[in-house]
Amino acid sequence: MPMPPAPTRIALTRQVSSAIEQCELTHVQRAPIDIGRARKQHHDYEQVLRRLGCRVETLSEEPELPDSVFVEDTAIVLEEVAVITRPGAPSRRPETASIAGALARYRKLLRIEAPGTLDGGDVLLIERTLYVGTSRRSNREAIEQLTALLAPLGYHVRPVAVRGCLHLKTAVTQVAEGRLLINPSWVDRAEFAGMRYVEVDEAEPFGANAVLLGDQVIYPTSHPRTAERLRRLGIAVHTVEMSETEKAEGGVTCCSLLFSAAGA
Ligand code: GLY
Repeated sequence: MPMPPAPTRIALTRQVSSAIEQCELTHVQRAPIDIGRARKQHHDYEQVLRRLGCRVETLSEEPELPDSVFVEDTAIVLEEVAVITRPGAPSRRPETASIAGALARYRKLLRIEAPGTLDGGDVLLIERTLYVGTSRRSNREAIEQLTALLAPLGYHVRPVAVRGCLHLKTAVTQVAEGRLLINPSWVDRAEFAGMRYVEVDEAEPFGANAVLLGDQVIYPTSHPRTAERLRRLGIAVHTVEMSETEKAEGGVTCCSLLFSAAGA
């Protein structure tokens, strides 16, 4: 019997806003952003996603929404449903409308409602558990809503304290089956029982944000020592230049929503 084809993996992205220099900043000093370079880097990032087997769907620029390239914060896409978030920064809330329009073709939509606030950058999905950072962007009300929305689908939601950085996924992401890349100054290892770790190099505190696609990792060139640690573990690392979106306090996970086209 021939094997059924693997489901298409979608990467939903959005072009860099011409207003990106007016982005929200919390833990990063404002610095000039080269918009042409930001767009070239974003294009190259999309090319890596294609090379790793994704079908990239790019939404057009939102010139009034400075942070709108960071699509990850607007939704949590699971196999069965997509949860449209209510971003913690009011300036970012209008970003969700076009994302909901794009995701409605693939998933039933659920929503976080006021007074809940949730950024997708605070949500780390490992198997059937969603670890949710209790950051300045994501609050208890949203975590309670998420728990009620997803418990019937068999998901567990676990709040995790983060300190000193914007989002949970600034502090920790998954880089292989059973292994996390972590900055232990910003989140406690003990929150993730049963996982193995690799720590960021101490000179690269922002180095814990990586995209895991199958067994391949997309990772920024700005953290070469940590990249070397990953390679020494046998992890396949594909590096991308992210200098301009890093100035806007965004990492590699922030710039895409990744999901299979065939939802439940
Ligand atoms: N500039 C990214 C954010 O603050 O959401």
